[in-house]
Formats: sequence, structure tokens, C-alpha cells
Amino acid sequence: MADDKDHGGLGAAYAAKRPEDVAAIYDNWSETYDADMSAAGYRHPTICLALLARHLPRGAAPLLDAGAGTGLIGEWLAITGYPMVEALDISQGMLAKAAAKRVYSALHCLALGGQLPFADGAYAGIVSAGVFTSGHVGVEGLDELIRICRPGGVIVLTVKNTLWEAGFAARIAALEVQGRVVRAEETAPYVSMPGEADTVPSRGLVLRVA
Ligand SMILES: C[S@@+](CC[C@H](N)C(=O)[O-])C[C@H]1O[C@@H](n2cnc3c(N)ncnc32)[C@H](O)[C@@H]1O
Repeated sequence: MADDKDHGGLGAAYAAKRPEDVAAIYDNWSETYDADMSAAGYRHPTICLALLARHLPRGAAPLLDAGAGTGLIGEWLAITGYPMVEALDISQGMLAKAAAKRVYSALHCLALGGQLPFADGAYAGIVSAGVFTSGHVGVEGLDELIRICRPGGVIVLTVKNTLWEAGFAARIAALEVQGRVVRAEETAPYVSMPGEADTVPSRGLVLRVA
């Protein structure tokens, strides 16, 4: 299962202090990640896929899977009609698993949270499932995603309540007031892994970039 007790996976990642530690944890976890998350009933990719399909027309391209991991969403995006999706992740091990699925048009081993080497408006849509969470990426990662998403495009992301209450909600509200994004949809809070002990809920968000 995906927790500290068995393989130092998500529990260890939540507690990580430095990006290189997060990358190492996921490198070590990459081999069993898909099976572990499946056993835990992991919901974020499914929720994000549903939200994306509701707000972004079939064929919109290119998309960025930010914090793609092993590419769980990438497989489904390809099936549901989004033909050009790039993957970005801090963990080379996770990206190697994503590459093996042969659904991404490009792979970028990069860290969210700082400046990204992509042009303004480079992507028609961005999806980020299970990344804005404890020990991973905080609200500081959001502005660059907005910059690289084209006007009219959407950013679909999940945000854990811990972050939501520690500044994320306020930042989204401020971005709305500034007219930089419109909150197109926000789900009710839900537990991302019903099979796990961590019951802090997350929510799915759809931001349309102005
Ligand atoms: C819980 S996994 C989610 C992966 C995938 N989106 C999914 O839903 O299966 C979190 C992912 O975020 C990546 N990650 C954590 N911190 C990151 C950062 N600062 N920049 C880029 N990726 C990061 C990890 O390497 C890991 O692959």
C-alpha cells in the first residue's frame, strides 16, 4: 500500500523537506507506484480527467501533465482524444515509467515551484493531479502554470486542504480579483485515497486563464 509503513512512499514524500529528497523518494517508488496507488483506490487522476474533459475540447493541444509521475493520466488522455501531451516531473524514475507508456510527446525532468523554461501561453491546457500537496509543490508553483497556459486555456489541479487553508484559497481569490483567472469549477472536498490512513481531503479545481 502507498504509505510510510511499507515502502517509504507517499508518507515519506509528504514529510520531505527538499525537492531532491522528493525526487529520490519517487525514484525509489516508481517501480511499484501504479500498483500501490491502484490498491489504495487513488482518485485524483480520474477526477482530473473528468474535469479536463468537461472544460477543454477534444483535441486541444498541446497539454502539459505537470507532476505527471508514471503517466496515469497520460494514458487516459490519449484514449479520450487529447493527442499531444507533454509530461513534466522532478523524478527521473517516475518519468522513465511515463516514457514506457509511450503516450507523451515530450518529457521534461524539471521542478515546479520556480521558473519554467516554456514560453508564455505555450499550452492549451495543464493538468496537475496529486502535486499541490504536503511536501510537494505549494502555491508558489501556481503563477508559472498560469503564465505558460494560453488565454482561454484551463489548468486542472488538485489541492490538498492543508495547502488550501494555508494560503492557496486566498491566492486563487486574489488572482480572480486581478482578472488573471476565472474559477470555472471547484469540486467538493474528497479523500484522494480511500484505502489509506491519511484522510485529509483535497479538492479539484478548474482555472480558466484570462
Ligand atoms: C502523488 S504523485 C502524482 C503523480 C501523477 N500526477 C498521478 O496522479 O499519478 C506526485 C508527483 O509529483 C512529483 N513532484 C513532486 N514535487 C515536484 C516538483 N517540485 N516539481 C515537479 N514534480 C514534482 C513527484 O515526483 C510525483 O511524480
